[in-house]
Amino acid sequence: MKVLILGSNGRLGSALVRRWKALHDIEVVALTRADVDLSDPEKAEAGLAAHEFGVGDVVVNSAAATDVDGCEKDREGATRINATSPGRIARLCAARGARLIHLGTDYVFDGSLDRPYKEEDEPNPLSHYGLTKLEGDREVLGASPEHFVVRVSWVFGPDKPSFVDAIVKRALTSPEAAAVHDKTSAPSYTEDMALWLAALLNPKVPGGIYHLCNGGICSWRDYGEYALECAKKNGIAVLTTTVAPLKLSDMKAFIAVRPPHTALDTSKFTRTTGITPRPWREAVEDYFKSWKA
Ligand SMILES: NC(=O)c1ccc[n+]([C@@H]2O[C@H](COP(=O)([O-])OP(=O)(O)OC[C@H]3O[C@@H](n4cnc5c(N)ncnc54)[C@H](OP(=O)(O)O)[C@@H]3O)[C@@H](O)[C@H]2O)c1
Repeated sequence: MKVLILGSNGRLGSALVRRWKALHDIEVVALTRADVDLSDPEKAEAGLAAHEFGVGDVVVNSAAATDVDGCEKDREGATRINATSPGRIARLCAARGARLIHLGTDYVFDGSLDRPYKEEDEPNPLSHYGLTKLEGDREVLGASPEHFVVRVSWVFGPDKPSFVDAIVKRALTSPEAAAVHDKTSAPSYTEDMALWLAALLNPKVPGGIYHLCNGGICSWRDYGEYALECAKKNGIAVLTTTVAPLKLSDMKAFIAVRPPHTALDTSKFTRTTGITPRPWREAVEDYFKSWKA
C-alpha cells in the first residue's frame, strides 16, 4: 500500500511520516507545500495527480491553514486551503479508487454543549477557520463515503512547538505563568495519533467522520499546569508550576472567536477499531520525558 502524506512537515504530518516509515507493509510518500500547494486548488490537484497511486492506496491530508486568527485576515486564502483544495483532492482520490484521511477540527462546533461532541452533533463554527474546515469536511465526504474526516483537538508533539512548549519555555525564564481556565477540550498527542490513525489504513474500516484525541477533558490552564509539573519532574528548570487563571473573554489579542467547550467523544473510534485513546495526562507525561527546549 502506498500512503501519500500532505503537510508532511507539519506537527502531525511529521509524526505520521516518521512513524509510518517504520511500518513494513506501506510505502510512505512525504509531500510538502512545494509538491501540493493548497492555496491554488487547480495546481494542488495537478501536484497530487502527478504522483502514481490508485486502488487500495491512501492519501492523508494533514495540511491546512491552522492559524485561527490568520484565517480571519485572509478569508479567501483560508477557504482555498481548507475547503476548495481538499474537495478537489478528495474527488481525485475517489476517481483513482484511493481513500483519503482528512484531518478536521473541534472548532467546527460552537462549544456550547455540556458533554463531549459526537460525530453526529450539529456543527456551528464561530470562526472562519472553523467554517472553512467544516466546508472541507463536507467536500471530502461529498466526494466519497469511503473517505475519512478525523476531527482532532489541541495537537501537540515533538516535531513543532505548540501551547505546552510555549508555556514551559516561558517558565524557564519567568516565574509567572497564566492560561485560560474557562475553555476546555483535550490534547491530541501526535505520537499517539500516528498509532491510532494507522488503524484507518485497514480497508475494512468504514469511512465517515471520527472524533479522535487523548482521553479526558481539561482547560488550557490544567493542561499548562500539568505540563509544567511533568517538565519539573524530568529535571527541566522551570521557575514555576503554578498557572494563574485567565478568562477567555480577557484574551483581547484573539481575532477569531474561540468555542469554549469542545471536548470530543471518541467512542465511535473505539467501537470501530478497538483502540481506546489513553488519558491526556499520560501522553503529556511521556512527551516531557524526552523534551528539549
Ligand atoms: N494544531 C492544533 O491544535 C489543531 C487542532 C485541531 C485540529 N487541527 C487540525 O489537524 C491538522 C494538522 O494540524 P497540525 O497541528 O499538524 O498543523 P501545522 O503544524 O500547522 O501543519 C500544517 C501543515 O500544512 C501545511 N500548509 C499550510 N498551508 C499550506 C498550503 N497552502 N499548501 C500546502 N500545505 C500547506 C504547512 O506547511 P508549511 O510547513 O510549509 O507551512 C504544514 O505542513 C490540520 O488539519 C488542523 O486543522 C489542528
